[in-house]
Formats: sequence, structure tokens, C-alpha cells
Amino acid sequence: MDKNEIKILLVEDDKGDLLLTKKALNNCPQLVNFIMDSAGSLSETIKCLNSDKEYDVILLDMGLPDSNGLETVRRVCEATDIPIVVLTGLGDEEIGLSAIKTGAEDYLTKDMPLNKFLVRTIRYVLERKRVEEELKAAHIRLVRSEKLATVGQLASTVAHELRNPLAVIKNATYLLNMEEKIKTEPDIRENIDIISEETNNADKIISDLLQFSRVKEPTLRVTGINKIVERVLKKVKVPSKVKITTKLHNDLPDIEMDSLQIEQVLCNIVSNGIQAMDYGGEMIIETAIEDNYVIVSVADTGCGISKENLKKVFEPLFSTKAKGTGLGLPVCAMLIDKHYGQINIQSQLDKGTTFIVKLPIDKNTENLEKTSDNPAAESAAAAITKGE
Ligand SMILES: Nc1ncnc2c1ncn2[C@@H]1O[C@H](COP(=O)(O)OP(=O)(O)O)[C@@H](O)[C@H]1O
Ligand SMILES: [Mg+2]
Repeated sequence: MDKNEIKILLVEDDKGDLLLTKKALNNCPQLVNFIMDSAGSLSETIKCLNSDKEYDVILLDMGLPDSNGLETVRRVCEATDIPIVVLTGLGDEEIGLSAIKTGAEDYLTKDMPLNKFLVRTIRYVLERKRVEEELKAAHIRLVRSEKLATVGQLASTVAHELRNPLAVIKNATYLLNMEEKIKTEPDIRENIDIISEETNNADKIISDLLQFSRVKEPTLRVTGINKIVERVLKKVKVPSKVKITTKLHNDLPDIEMDSLQIEQVLCNIVSNGIQAMDYGGEMIIETAIEDNYVIVSVADTGCGISKENLKKVFEPLFSTKAKGTGLGLPVCAMLIDKHYGQINIQSQLDKGTTFIVKLPIDKNTENLEKTSDNPAAESAAAAITKGE
């Protein structure tokens, strides 16, 4: 689909006005690329908004057979956050202003030469929406980095405090294990094994916390991503019920990165994918090149992530696992952000998830943005796209 195409939903019950507006749109020399649907009532409008179709802007007549006046604006605003331009009767400036206060972005009165004002208004509204989304994304990034800093400090203190007593428990268990008596006492032996296993779990949590609180600036060296993928596969434990296939592009440029940090990112993503395939499944790890980016995608056939949870997976401490710390993906996001890269997620519940990590080949490109935020988290704004 053409990215520059403007998709308009025209809500108008009056056949004459509908024709006039359509004609105005067709006669706009600046608006050559648009598609339009029309609805003649509020219920039809809501149906269109709930369908699979996507719209960029709604042109809304407030007087409809099943709803009238500002109530129409209120109801459509409730149903969507697509920008609304209200079409009001002759000289209805006051109503137009009230419509803006109710949630519309702009209004046009029917005595304005539509072919002249319509395009200007649509363009203005779309641009405003884009800027608002950018602002929202910047705000989310700021709040997240503050939250991360606070959690990081706390994590570091707690982890350090716990590390020593845990080391003492580990040593004591080791010494107990050496005792001759233990070998003849299966009950005691079993309990010591439980202590050992749980101390190892606790140790893993502490390592996660420390990793999280110590995200360092990357030490950049020119490296190939395929080598890192191979190292990751040697490191992670793959259960026999999970099959991992790699499709590594054999002509990728080496790029500047901190190979340990990128290895950590891929380890976290691959481990999550394996954990999502409780009953077994397949993982495909692929490397590729796209525009100015080297891409690594990790696709699993696991449990998938609900739309609701997609918004939260990069939040520190969010986890759906009994023994999860919820720190893996926030660390990934921070590390990839430091590499001026992006992480996108595509997921379908019960079908699987694909994580796509993009690393810029040329970091000097001025218009590279720090956009590793969860696009779903940014009100579905940036990176995460729903499974298609
Ligand atoms: N590949 C995946 N499939 C399904 N869910 C995932 C996947 N990766 C991450 N998640 C979800 O994101 C959450 C956060 O992941 P993460 O930050 O690594 O923390 P943890 O693994 O400790 O739970 C997980 O608990 C899980 O709900
Ligand atoms: Mg994890």
C-alpha cells in the first residue's frame, strides 16, 4: 500500500452534502492520492472503526439519524483516536469551537470553499497528530529512563547485600555435601540438593539485577553479527524438544558494536523464545541486511504475547513467569538504544513471536533516532507491530 495515501472516512447522511464533499476532494489538485469510505450514521461509523480498515482522518457531519450535535463528536472520540474534522452547517463557528473542545481536531463550515480548505485542514491535522505522537514517544522514553535509573539503583543495593549471605550458604552447602554421614542419609541429601538448586536460582536473579543496574556505555569494535549468533547458540541451553535453525546471511558488513552487549541481548531474546516453547517448538534465527541496518530476527513458535502484554514487555519487572525477573527485555532495550538500534516485536497469541533487532551500519547517519521503545508501549506508536 502507498504510504502517502490518505485514508478518509467521510461521515455524512445528507446525499447532497456527501456528493459535494466527494466532489471537493476529487477536485483538490494537491490531494491526488486518497481513498475514502463513507458512513451515513453513527452506528455505521462505529462499525467502520471496528473493522480491519484503517483511517488517517474522519470528516464528520454532526447531525446524523442516530446521533446529533456534540454527542456525535463525543461518541466518535470515545470509539477512536483517529483525528476528527467536523463539518458544520453554514457559519456554525461556535459549534465548531465546541466540537474542538469535545475532542475534534478542527472544523470546517459548509460555506467555506471546501476544495480550498479541506486539504489544508487534513494536512494540518495529520501533521499535528504526527508531532503529538513524537512528543508522546519522547515522554515515554523519559519516564522509562527515570524509572530504570531508580529501579537500577535499588537493584544494585539489594543484589550486593544478598550476594554475600548467598555465597556463605553456597559454601556451607558445599561443606555439608563433603560430610561422609550425608551419603547414608537420603532425606538430608535431598534437602541439601533443594538448598543448592534454590541458591542457584537466587544467584541467577542477583546476576540479572546486577546486569540491569550496570548497563555500561558500549565499547565499540568492528564485529560480524553472525559470529555473535554462533556464540549465543553455544551458550544457551536448548532442550531437546526445541529445534533451532539458523539462516545466516553470508555477505553482511561487519559493524561497530559492543559484541558482549549484543551477545547479552540475543541471549535474553533466545532464552525467552525457548522458555515460551514449553511444549517444544521451532526457533529460526536469521540475519539480514535492510537499508542502513543489519538485522537479526529470532522467531519462535511459542505461546505468543497478548496485545495487552505487548505494551508492557519492556517495562522493568514485568514478567509472566513464576521465576522471571522481568529484567531481560528492559536490559535489551537499553543496550540496543545505546547502539542507536531498534527492537521490534511481532507476535500472535498461541502461534509465536518474532523479535527483530536492527543495528545501524553507519552510526554517523544523522537522522538515526533512538527508537528502541516498545512501539506498543508508545501507544502502539513505534516499533512493535502486531502479528499480521
Ligand atoms: N518469545 C517470547 N514469547 C512469549 N512471551 C515473551 C517472549 N519474550 C518475552 N516474553 C514476555 O515478556 C516478559 C518479559 O520478558 P523478560 O524481560 O525477559 O523477563 P522474564 O524472562 O524474566 O520474564 C516475559 O515474562 C514474557 O511474558
Ligand atoms: Mg527473560
